[in-house]
Amino acid sequence: MSAPVGDLAGQGASGADLGALSGSRGVLSEWDADPALGRVVLSVEQIARRVAELGKMITADYASRPPLLVGVLKGAFMFLADLAREIQLPLELDFMAVSSYGRATKTSGVVRILKDLDIDLTGRHVLVVEDILDSGLTLSYLRKSLLARGPESLAVCSLLVKRSVQPRPDLELAYVGFHIEPEFVVGYGLDVAERYRNLPDIRVYLAGEPA
Ligand code: IMP
Ligand code: MG
Repeated sequence: MSAPVGDLAGQGASGADLGALSGSRGVLSEWDADPALGRVVLSVEQIARRVAELGKMITADYASRPPLLVGVLKGAFMFLADLAREIQLPLELDFMAVSSYGRATKTSGVVRILKDLDIDLTGRHVLVVEDILDSGLTLSYLRKSLLARGPESLAVCSLLVKRSVQPRPDLELAYVGFHIEPEFVVGYGLDVAERYRNLPDIRVYLAGEPA
């Protein structure tokens, strides 16, 4: 007799096997054949290890005051999903969407709020979760906008910070995953013209401005 439809135990096992074959452990994947992608800046394992460390730090720092995590869409979606599971506190989540780049790989200097928060920030301990700081312009704008809403505290956790960023104490950058060279990178949520967000590791993007 064949296995019943929806045999989750069986599917789980095959899913895990496929992951081991196609993923991160030096085995060639479809991504390696993409000429637009350069070297791996951060591997799946490096990212996972650091996200777990950040989660531990945040768990300790916010033990007495569970945070409201504000994910900045879309780039931070994958980081936020992983980070939230590494924080062992009864936290809450909300999302904002901002756009600073449009389709280009250089900042336009214009930040727009495309989707605002649902939750009132008054008296809350807000932790903004960002994908990457390049010029710092997006975060600087976001910070002002959030501070005006009366949170009890406001801090920022960014997975990546480019070494081009001038140290800016005003940005309340409490947690940084990695400092990276000022190259354009994609993967683990980061895109170029909406592509490569699902790349599991973080790689240099080699091609020029997307067509
Ligand atoms: P900033 O305002 O210059 O700090 O840019 C921040 C935003 O630009 C990030 O939240 C990203 O969405 C995007 N960004 C900056 N650098 C990169 C990159 O290397 N790859 C993908 N997106 C980037
Ligand atoms: Mg982006």
